[in-house]
Amino acid sequence: MAKKSQLVGVDLGSYSVKVAEIDSGKNGNILRNFGVALLPPESIAEGQIQSKDVLSNTIRRLFEQLNIKNRNVCTSISGASCILKKLPTIQGKTVEEIEQGLKNEMEQYIPYDISDAYIDHFIQVSDGTTPKAGEKIGEADVLVAAAPKALVDSYVEILEAADLNPVVMDVGILAIQNSVEVTVPELPQEYTIVSIGAETITIHAVRKGMPLFTRDVWMGGNQLTRAIMANFDLNFWEAEEVKLGNRQVHPGKEPLLKKLFIEYVGEWVKEIGKAVEYIRSSFSDLSISNLYLTGGGSLLPGIKDAISMETRLNVIYVDPFAGLIVDPKKFDEEYLKEYAAISGQVVGLALRAAKDK
Ligand SMILES: Nc1ncnc2c1ncn2[C@@H]1O[C@H](COP(=O)(O)OP(=O)(O)OP(=O)(O)O)[C@@H](O)[C@H]1O
Ligand SMILES: [Mg+2]
Repeated sequence: MAKKSQLVGVDLGSYSVKVAEIDSGKNGNILRNFGVALLPPESIAEGQIQSKDVLSNTIRRLFEQLNIKNRNVCTSISGASCILKKLPTIQGKTVEEIEQGLKNEMEQYIPYDISDAYIDHFIQVSDGTTPKAGEKIGEADVLVAAAPKALVDSYVEILEAADLNPVVMDVGILAIQNSVEVTVPELPQEYTIVSIGAETITIHAVRKGMPLFTRDVWMGGNQLTRAIMANFDLNFWEAEEVKLGNRQVHPGKEPLLKKLFIEYVGEWVKEIGKAVEYIRSSFSDLSISNLYLTGGGSLLPGIKDAISMETRLNVIYVDPFAGLIVDPKKFDEEYLKEYAAISGQVVGLALRAAKDK
């Protein structure tokens, strides 16, 4: 029986929907359910949702297939229109004063009207205490998340149309950070995460659990698929097969394909390098040596080494299933390995739910 407060993780990506159910047991977190369903091409492109029906039907079918009865879900939004910002450290203010100033402070970071955004925040006090009402805090770090209301509302609508009850709305990269924290042994206090999805690349830096810097760019795997479509006159899935190396192009056309790979991967790697340089120059006291890599696009051949060369960091793939108790009778090890790169976010969402019980 599902416990009442338990939530199912749902990651509605641009390329596929991922669902995971995790229980916290006596000996650790147990993977109960996991599944992925591909979305029709361009269902979500650059954060724009094309067909809500298609998305909710896909999610509904996935829940049916996996036989998940729990309707309460933890989901996330991501993409360059969602903003995650750590504010400069605040000193000598009360929680009320900090909260009052948030809207003004955020106005400069949001590229659209602030009244069109949902804003959420998290205050971390440097001595780890929970601030009391009216009490001045010595030093506080504030993390603020903002997302367009229209986007959040459409996610809620899609989930409700699939007969689900969205209880928690997280930020995609924070869910990924959560899975990194839970699954990576001996995680350093300071590190970066890079996620290469279908439509979004995110570069994220963390110090002592607190996100310091996050940058999302509209780049990712689908760009290369679209370029292959255009250059080889193929449909989306044919181009996808070419990209994954499962389909040949006409003899003599291989150099053109190689050129597209180099062009796009090169652009992504440069963008990642620029963000890492920015992090290094903005936080000179930060000592980062590891970059945790995730997202489907991170599986392109050569990209891991290219990122390592560009950023001079140890690049490590994240395996979000590594820290979970997995019944080999229920889940094939190879199957989970294959899906490890795309599952950081959904595992982070499901873990959040399992932990917060
Ligand atoms: N083995 C692979 N080699 C290369 N690319 C891959 C591989 N597997 C998946 N991809 C690519 O990764 C992308 C999907 O990754 P992912 O599932 O992380 O994206 P998403 O979460 O659906 O999208 P987003 O987070 O950007 O909205 C697609 O572009 C897909 O072609
Ligand atoms: Mg994603």
